[in-house]
Amino acid sequence: MEELEKLIEQMTVEEKAALCIGATAWTTTAVERLDVPSIMVTDGPHGIRKVANQDVLIEKSMPATCFPTASCLASTWDTELLQKMGQAMAEEAHALDVDVILGPGANIKRTPLGGRNFEYFSEDPFLSGRMATALIDGIQSRGVGTSLKHYAVNNQEDHRLTINVVVDERALREIYLRGFEMAVKAAKPWTVMCAYNKVNGEYCSQHHRLLTEILKEEWGFEGLVMSDWGAVHDRVKALLAGLDLEMPGPQPRRLQKVVEAVQSGELEMGVLDEAVRRILPIVFMAREVEGPRTFDAKAHHQLAREIAAQGMVLLKNDGLLPLAEFERVAVIGHSAKVPYYQGGGSSHINPTQVDVPFTELRKYAPDSEWLFAQGYGEMGVYDPGLIDEAVSVAGSADVAVLFIALPASKESEGYDRADLDLTEHQVALIRAVAKVQPRTVVVLNSGSAVNLAPWVMDVSAVLMGWMMGQAGGGAVADILFGKVNPSGKLSETFPFRLEDTPAFINFPGGAGEVRYGEGLYVGYRYYDAQQMQVAFPFGFGLSYTTFEYSNLKVAESFEDTDGLKVTFDVTNTGGLAGKEIAQVYVHDREASLARPPKALKGFAKVALGPGETQTVAVDLDFRAFAFYHPKHKAWITEDGMFDILVGASAEDIRLSAATQMKSTLDLPSLLDEESTISEWLADPRGRVVLQPLMEQFQAQLQQVLGPDEEDGGMNFSGMIMDMPLASILMFQQDKLPVPPEDMVAGLLQQVHAGRS
Ligand code: BGC
Repeated sequence: MEELEKLIEQMTVEEKAALCIGATAWTTTAVERLDVPSIMVTDGPHGIRKVANQDVLIEKSMPATCFPTASCLASTWDTELLQKMGQAMAEEAHALDVDVILGPGANIKRTPLGGRNFEYFSEDPFLSGRMATALIDGIQSRGVGTSLKHYAVNNQEDHRLTINVVVDERALREIYLRGFEMAVKAAKPWTVMCAYNKVNGEYCSQHHRLLTEILKEEWGFEGLVMSDWGAVHDRVKALLAGLDLEMPGPQPRRLQKVVEAVQSGELEMGVLDEAVRRILPIVFMAREVEGPRTFDAKAHHQLAREIAAQGMVLLKNDGLLPLAEFERVAVIGHSAKVPYYQGGGSSHINPTQVDVPFTELRKYAPDSEWLFAQGYGEMGVYDPGLIDEAVSVAGSADVAVLFIALPASKESEGYDRADLDLTEHQVALIRAVAKVQPRTVVVLNSGSAVNLAPWVMDVSAVLMGWMMGQAGGGAVADILFGKVNPSGKLSETFPFRLEDTPAFINFPGGAGEVRYGEGLYVGYRYYDAQQMQVAFPFGFGLSYTTFEYSNLKVAESFEDTDGLKVTFDVTNTGGLAGKEIAQVYVHDREASLARPPKALKGFAKVALGPGETQTVAVDLDFRAFAFYHPKHKAWITEDGMFDILVGASAEDIRLSAATQMKSTLDLPSLLDEESTISEWLADPRGRVVLQPLMEQFQAQLQQVLGPDEEDGGMNFSGMIMDMPLASILMFQQDKLPVPPEDMVAGLLQQVHAGRS
């Protein structure tokens, strides 16, 4: 600490300002005079995209393992596996001389249309937070840093550089920031990357509340905040807000501006020092890592295959899967030979090798006759010739495996999707093939939910393959042939129609602004509240075996700060070994503010042999029951009954138990000059001080109005309840010892003094 301060003392303003701006597109500035090294950062988030030339943003990067993207990762619900992936990524980073990986991304999938959804984990903050934590833990356990991004509320690509997100405080805290908060607190990422967009009127890069008050002060983030590439508008303002490192560099003019701002007194040296104080430890920490500068590409490929197989979700199976050995197998679809395994933009990895699904499938049944038809072209153009060819191949085989990938032109960093649909040609192809081949399996590849409704009834089985990474082809084969029993569960809801989605009428906004009108009701929280049917719910996924849940136990009552232990049994009731992802949701029966019907607060993935039972324990903490109260500016709990819901998906709740929670909070009263009579009476301390006055007043009121039924249906007493106390007192002015305002002030004083 002392050494750090000494070092800062020795630095000139120019050196400090330079340290706070990149030297190249991917490196920080060294201060050679003082032995401060430069470090290298690169994308992220599901592989290492290191370009050889540090001055360019995009060129073919050095080979690295392309792991599945975040949608697939989150659908594994497997924190241990993500840690392993993190460790492997760190080894690759180290081998490529990279110090910080730009990821993971913990933004919420507000709508399935988000072009970058493939890079994000989930519509649910708890799942996002747990996945981000695991990945960061894995990477950082090997001495390589991470950059948790894009902080915050970056949920669309449309106008992403300038859009102003208008979001209410509860949605911000409970949905959009919660995953970041979890990961920052639990995994302590070395760095956090700010988003491009504005939040409630201010750019994230210069958002003092987000960067300093919430991230650094409230959550205790000790690392450095870096900008997204080109997200800084006013460097001095950004520094004042808490943005430590601007990327990319070099930016000589901006550097000069910072120096001038210090010289002119516009920027206090202390502010610049604080940024330097955060950057230096990271720079030194990064340079400390030792170990071999090589990695085992084969082993990492194998790990990528394992992860892909764990993250793929079996959406439908009428019994065709796992595949038996058939004499003639038709494989149809462009992506069977040219796999669609990652998305466009800054996360694009140059893989070490790529599994071709067609080749991998054949390995399982080398003696079968394997037929192929391209089915569709890359560009998605309607072509009846390709459909005819596919139909004839499918018709002549015993089974058809159809690979359908969403064209890259439909989803990418940089633009959003216009709809949830596959191409018209692809839909026609699936239907035509299914017509001639009753045994048809569809393997889907896309980064986010797609609309299956037009054809899902026609086919025997559907496997959601996501953007499955470079080893996905092998993983598909492992699942289709039953080497791996599928266990992935959806990390996002698949709705029936775009019009059903919660953000539908508020997306993508206009005139520079997008309003998050749906508030807290994102993903399943919305479909639950609307009691709306969806195609495949959040948390859904099939297995080749079956599971039963029993024996749910929770305490009858508990205190919020003690938390609650939930235990239950899961039994594999089928004939095959398999894994089940059991989910624990919490329902608050009554709260002073509206709450979504239920929220995910815990989960466990259990591996069970046939007939085996395991007892699962999930701990729920204070936050599992709390909600953010904008007036208290805090996460609060309230006494009351909660239901603990244990299920196989958000829609398939198998067990439930009620429990009584006691809040240990001693919250200050929220009563103020404008509080209504009913608010006074709802507040325990307010009720006590107002009670005597109310009795008097009600008696007088009765005299004036007569009994309720004589007020001409106006319900005066009800109306009075909605009036501020001061207005009521106005009518009694002459009977009061002091003016009404003073009377209210006196009562309020008693209320607020009453706090223990
Ligand atoms: C992306 C970031 C990425 C950065 C560097 C930006 O455009 O939003 O996610 O890390 O570029 O490539």
